[in-house]
Amino acid sequence: MEHESIAKSNSPIIAIIGLGYVGLPLSIALSEHYSVIGFDINSTRIESLHRHIDLNREIPTSILQSSKIQFTNNKEDLKKANIYIIAVPTDIDADDSPDLSYLIKASEMVGGLISHGDIVIYESTVYPGCTEEVCLPILEELSGLKSPIEFSISYSPERIVPGELMESLKSSIKIIGSQNDATSLSVKSIYDSFLYHEAQIVSSIMVAEAAKVVENTQRDINISLINELSVIFDKIGISTHEVIEAASTKWNFHPYSPGLVGGHCISVDPFYLIHKAKKVGHLPQVIAAGRRVNEYIPKHIATKVTQELIKQGKNPGNTKVLVMGLAFKENVSDIRNSKVIDLMNYLNDYSICIDTLDPHVASYQNSRNHYAQISDIRAEYDAIILCVAHDEFKDLSEQWFEKVSIGATTLFDVKGIYRKQLTDESIKYWTL
Ligand SMILES: NC(=O)c1ccc[n+]([C@@H]2O[C@H](COP(=O)([O-])OP(=O)(O)OC[C@H]3O[C@@H](n4cnc5c(N)ncnc54)[C@H](O)[C@@H]3O)[C@@H](O)[C@H]2O)c1
Repeated sequence: MEHESIAKSNSPIIAIIGLGYVGLPLSIALSEHYSVIGFDINSTRIESLHRHIDLNREIPTSILQSSKIQFTNNKEDLKKANIYIIAVPTDIDADDSPDLSYLIKASEMVGGLISHGDIVIYESTVYPGCTEEVCLPILEELSGLKSPIEFSISYSPERIVPGELMESLKSSIKIIGSQNDATSLSVKSIYDSFLYHEAQIVSSIMVAEAAKVVENTQRDINISLINELSVIFDKIGISTHEVIEAASTKWNFHPYSPGLVGGHCISVDPFYLIHKAKKVGHLPQVIAAGRRVNEYIPKHIATKVTQELIKQGKNPGNTKVLVMGLAFKENVSDIRNSKVIDLMNYLNDYSICIDTLDPHVASYQNSRNHYAQISDIRAEYDAIILCVAHDEFKDLSEQWFEKVSIGATTLFDVKGIYRKQLTDESIKYWTL
């Protein structure tokens, strides 16, 4: 069967492998136009999806109720598919090297399922070359088929934004790189079914892979520069935010804000590029430095908190601190690779007693008390660290901060939300 004819035929059956932050919304968008099977190895995830519940708290139950996706963890159900989209995690290991184990396992499974004319699309973020060097040989070996003649592959990175998954999925510009033009056109026609803007075809899989890691690496480095400046300006005694505002009056200055860089994209993808660069004989300087600076920021904040407590004549081991926001970014519940956790680990080194508050995180075991409601905060704290700019944290009154303060309390406002709002001198203020 010609590849082009698959997507153009009336009823391609699409299997999505991995139903996380990327795979689930993608399944929903595609299911509005195609027959979709959603597969995940996590049986809890599948059971909850059968009950129309997204445990990531991103997709509303009403949307899941009306979708016609066949959710399954039985790989036999995937045999009827002719388009496979792989969206499994690509993390890093303890040495900051790519952990390709999920990708390899998913490729092994799909390799055992595909037949003549099928297309396998990879969405997982990888370094340039990974899809063709690591995944493709697995597909060929396990299927006994030769690409791109008997089946073909494509790579299409995802630009979805947690907190606004469905809208960002549809409104972002998708990039497609394939083994040949026919495959790219078939894949484009599938994605174009739900995209607001036409997908863009690039000349190769490697270009598409590189584009994804580069866009996140650029962001990582831009933020790291501002984070480094904020460490310098803290020592000088001037406000980074004010400096950025002043510099922004120049037409070609790009404003970025200092902050914690966590999550599973920006703080991970540069390591994929570093890995590839080393493999081809170049030791990256700027990319690695950006990562080091951003990784240092949790320790920098913890040191500032501890120094301030000591300055106030307090023994850190006898103090109580409220950490506001656990998620890796605003308005999401995802705490994986959140740098707030790193910050708290540094505070733990000083035996500081930590309570946590995050309206998006229902439960958290590793603090003294975790609160999901602002109104549940009753205690008084020696320091407040506002780490995440959740909407719920943006309009708190000066009286609220006073109420939860012991007196001479400092608000460590990592994101600078209240830098123009607090006037009361009873609350000391620090921001990055
Ligand atoms: N989350 C984002 O905002 C985002 C944005 C762009 C790109 N990405 C990339 O997309 C990929 C997926 O990310 P995510 O955030 O959706 O991950 P996730 O952890 O939310 O979901 C991945 C899902 O894959 C499942 N899984 C793991 N191995 C599997 C296998 N062999 N077969 C079937 N299912 C399997 C897991 O159980 C999980 O439910 C990663 O490469 C990530 O870097 C993520």
